[in-house]
Amino acid sequence: MPEPATAPGAPAERREGRLKVTGSARYAAEHPSPGRLQAWPVPAAVARGRVTRIDTAAALDLPGVVTVLTPDDAPRLAESDDATLAVLQDARVPHRGWFVALVVAESLEAARDGAAAVHVAYAAEEHDVTLTETHPAGYVPEQANGGYPAVREQGDPEAAFASSETRVDVRYRVPPLHNHPMEPHTTTAHWEDGRLTVHTSSQGSGVVRAVLAQLFELDEERITVHAEHVGGGFGSKGTPRPDVVLAVMAALRTGRPVTVALPRRFLPAVVGHRAPTLHRLRLGAAPDGRLTSLLHEVTTHTSHVKEFVEQAATPARVMYAAASSRTAHRVVPLDVPTPSWMRAPGEAPGMYALESAMDELAAELGMDPVDLRVANEPETEPDSGKPFSSRHLVECLREGARRFDWDRRDPRPRTWAEGDLLIGTGVAAATYPVMMWPSKASARALPDGTFLVRINAADIGTGSRTVLAQIAADVLEVPLERVRIEVGSTELPAASLAGGSSGTASWGWPVHEACTRLAALLGDRSGPLPGQGLATEADTAGRADADSPYARHAFGAHFAEVAVDTVTGETRVRRLLGVYAAGRILNARTARSQFVGGMVMGLGMALTEGSTVDAAFGDFTESDLASYHVPAHADVPDIEAHWVDEDDPHLNPMGSKGIGEIGIVGTAAAIGNAAHHATGVRFRELPLTPDRILTGLTGR
Ligand code: MOS
Repeated sequence: MPEPATAPGAPAERREGRLKVTGSARYAAEHPSPGRLQAWPVPAAVARGRVTRIDTAAALDLPGVVTVLTPDDAPRLAESDDATLAVLQDARVPHRGWFVALVVAESLEAARDGAAAVHVAYAAEEHDVTLTETHPAGYVPEQANGGYPAVREQGDPEAAFASSETRVDVRYRVPPLHNHPMEPHTTTAHWEDGRLTVHTSSQGSGVVRAVLAQLFELDEERITVHAEHVGGGFGSKGTPRPDVVLAVMAALRTGRPVTVALPRRFLPAVVGHRAPTLHRLRLGAAPDGRLTSLLHEVTTHTSHVKEFVEQAATPARVMYAAASSRTAHRVVPLDVPTPSWMRAPGEAPGMYALESAMDELAAELGMDPVDLRVANEPETEPDSGKPFSSRHLVECLREGARRFDWDRRDPRPRTWAEGDLLIGTGVAAATYPVMMWPSKASARALPDGTFLVRINAADIGTGSRTVLAQIAADVLEVPLERVRIEVGSTELPAASLAGGSSGTASWGWPVHEACTRLAALLGDRSGPLPGQGLATEADTAGRADADSPYARHAFGAHFAEVAVDTVTGETRVRRLLGVYAAGRILNARTARSQFVGGMVMGLGMALTEGSTVDAAFGDFTESDLASYHVPAHADVPDIEAHWVDEDDPHLNPMGSKGIGEIGIVGTAAAIGNAAHHATGVRFRELPLTPDRILTGLTGR
């Protein structure tokens, strides 16, 4: 018998699924707006310098072109905390691809033709886009992204490393990576009677409204931002991007609705990217495998527009008991586009390096890599000394090993061949922090017996509508179909953004509380409800983000089997299996989709995804999906995602941790470790493309 859809964790189907597959879900470019114009930005063609002249005459002569905004005449913006949004404010070109003009026209085609007809002259300067560990401009920042201290040190790690019996001293490189959501960044803006209405593709419309209020010096009450359906984000839509600022400027200028739908090839330069990271890992261990010293030092880049430091050394502060440690970040400002958040910022590249080094250490010790991790399980969070609210990494590793048949593995590398193929298996651990931010929700019981839950949550393709309705139905003890839910608009009670795997925990909390209060009100009364029904509200401000005395993280274990073709150098993933410990799982179907989606992204990171900063031109060479290779269906095997149930009272009323990002975290390391097991060669630079594999196999 199928489980009732209101049972906790039931695999309820997405509420908006039918709308999406029938094409009736509306995205930011698709809202009907009579008289709406289209705009196309003009990207800078030099990597550093100044615009000296912009000739718009030819563009303005084209049929359909309405106006061209340039730094000379675009609306002035107030200062904001995010300098990447200060578009068309001055003549400076901080990186190639920075927008220097915007053509507004009656149609998309006319806007595109107009943009091609704008002539821009530059005073170009020498640029430098090449990241090295020893770059003279490198410095230690105050903080890494997320507010983490840039450097942490425990004990005397250098001395402890020098005197360790077994040592691994290795370097890894992760290239720049791009988020590339299915729906490129898009905004439609409309001014009417002094009010601004915006439809945008965002992970948090509340953040967009706050930033627009700041930039355009408006009361938030005069701005409405809708983000009803969002075609993915992966961090790149966590904060507003230039499309929203440009659309509002153009609507202000023309008095008409304007859509800015960024062409995909513009995304890499203006919506953020995962910055490249250069890692040095030093692990020292005693003969029993216990770490005596752990040093993880990261060098990354940022732009001259804004400092953003990929926090890649932070997961090493959580993972293993080491008597002494150093985790440190250096950053080099270059003439590159500004990096930003990308799925599991910090953890994804950091755990690739740490978990690859752990595999190298296991080999040095002659120890099983699962056992090595178990031997280094800490009593408390290594860096802070706080107790874990719950930590079931060992259970994930053991359960994964059982399901994967890990014990049947011959630990010796290059012992399994099938014709020209070398086969191998690998394992890696994963972690991601628990984050929660203040949010509000309302719940209303209506006279017809239905319930309406309202909260400005974002559904970026995760199924948040569905799981929030489940939380409500669960508390109200009513069938799921009787709960209606509204998300994705600043007209609704204010809520935090969909980022940091925090959404369901942050939003579910006030939904849970509002429904608990409503259930109590309903229980106390008899007779029919008044016309408006009965309503309650809940606000978790100041509570959700309170400093917990506990270290709160999700954990996981990834297992991979790969086949490496010794003739072509091609690596194929044949099996991929993850086991997670992430609190209580609230919807088995959508949770599995999050885990598997993260693993597919990790598979891409391992094998195909990577961007090249072109030293001569100063921008990314791979700016479309023909050159930036995300995994296609044929690349992805049947992926298994499992979880161990956790009962953690230190989280929120649902007992949930975040699940949106942990799937990507250990996947690339597990695949890389499997490639070593298959071939006997260590590959320390991602992605594992055929040229690198063949070079490694032939030693040339
Ligand atoms: Mo996610 S990179 O925290 O939006």
